[in-house]
Amino acid sequence: MLPPSSFLLVASLLAAVPANADGIYTKKSPVLQLNAKTYGSLIANSNHTSIVEFYAPWCGHCQNLKPAYEKAAQNLNGLAKVAAINCDEDENKPFCGQMGVQGFPTLKIVTPSKKPGKPRVEDYQGARTAKGIVDAVVDRIPNHVKRATDKDLDNWLGQNEERPKAILFTEKGTTSSLIRALAIDFLGAIDVAQVRNKETSSVEKFGVEQFPTLVVVPGGDAEPTVYGGELKKQPILEFLSQFAEANPDATGKAAPADSKPKSKPKPKTKPTSVAEEAEEPTATPESKPVEAPVAPRHLPSLPPNLSKPRSNTCVLALLPGTGADEALPSTATDALSSLAEIAHKHSLRGVNMFPVYAVPETNTASKTLRTALGLDASQGVEIIAVNARRGWWRHYSAEGEFGITAVESWIDAIRLGEGAKEKLPEGIVGGTEPEAEAEKPEEVEHDEL
Ligand SMILES: *[C@@H]1O[C@H](CO)[C@@H](O)[C@H](O)[C@H]1NC(C)=O
Ligand SMILES: *[C@@H]1O[C@H](CO)[C@@H](O)[C@H](O)[C@H]1NC(C)=O
Repeated sequence: MLPPSSFLLVASLLAAVPANADGIYTKKSPVLQLNAKTYGSLIANSNHTSIVEFYAPWCGHCQNLKPAYEKAAQNLNGLAKVAAINCDEDENKPFCGQMGVQGFPTLKIVTPSKKPGKPRVEDYQGARTAKGIVDAVVDRIPNHVKRATDKDLDNWLGQNEERPKAILFTEKGTTSSLIRALAIDFLGAIDVAQVRNKETSSVEKFGVEQFPTLVVVPGGDAEPTVYGGELKKQPILEFLSQFAEANPDATGKAAPADSKPKSKPKPKTKPTSVAEEAEEPTATPESKPVEAPVAPRHLPSLPPNLSKPRSNTCVLALLPGTGADEALPSTATDALSSLAEIAHKHSLRGVNMFPVYAVPETNTASKTLRTALGLDASQGVEIIAVNARRGWWRHYSAEGEFGITAVESWIDAIRLGEGAKEKLPEGIVGGTEPEAEAEKPEEVEHDEL
């Protein structure tokens, strides 16, 4: 048997797939971070519209999207929720599957319907730019603002008499996203209407001389109050809060302490500070539209602990490199989905299969393996099986065919111990300076984030 150090390279290669690591958004990010549990309370049961990104930390397109997504979150602050969920977390995987997520990133816009807790969920297919996202979300902010005229304003003021009313006098015929968001914040607590400047008798009745003007008519016999502050979300929210309490999930309000998903302390395999520095938004405010790669729905990417010698055959899909905004080639997505499907089938049947991992091209260990195993063409996806403990590897010779049947019969042959195994070349498992080797892939990966 090879000494334990023999496993270090493969172990470090697997550890460098940032599987169960922290997500790509830091705590300071304007993006609200969800898990399978908080989705219900923060999104599905919200009166506000949300956009939710389903992502995996290893997905390059997710990382490319990050600056635009954070910018969208800033622009939508106080108007709608911008959230993200890490589908690589074990606790989130079933939920992401349930939501029909098949590729990363997947963006879904969640719009409240008349039935509480039963929002409309639709895929966002537009440009992956801050503007594209903001426009689509703003479009779907529900409108609870009554458009009142001289004819019906009094009638409206007479409804729910005890409830305060807010009236926005405006020159606009449209209802701004700001006033719509405020009406949602105070849904059931303050009724909101908008009256155009041409409704002269209403304008005179309230003594409005400029537009826009926001007037609150408190319940009972209290006098109307004109808002004199800045026409921004936060000060208006504070002003209106004097008349009635905003709803629990009013946007722009400091989030109650328990509304943020608690990130459970996890055993860290990486220096967090390095990760966070690398994660700071970079200069590109709008990333170019990118295609979502088809990503493995059930492909586990949690690295096993290979320092404990077991019968560790594992299957690796060495992914090819892509340009900054190109999708994986279809052979790679075929390979990933075939592997995912096979793994899924096996788990349904309760049959043990080898763990399968996608290894991004950015992982230097991927290059090391390709070179050592003679899989030179970095353009194509390669599927290999490796058993570091027994010192063999096998190559799936695809000839461009990564369909499920072909891949599955290859895997079956390995399970049955059929076919020729090749000897793992000396230097790639174990050997020289295992510790330096073990560290290397992590550093490079952070640099490239
Ligand atoms: C949603 O609006 C209703 C009033 O229609 C309110 O009672 C409820 O608290 C609001 N929900 C949240 C989560 O703010
Ligand atoms: C792997 O498992 C062994 C025994 O369970 C443990 O001592 C070791 O720290 C683990 N290594 C890693 C990298 O998690």
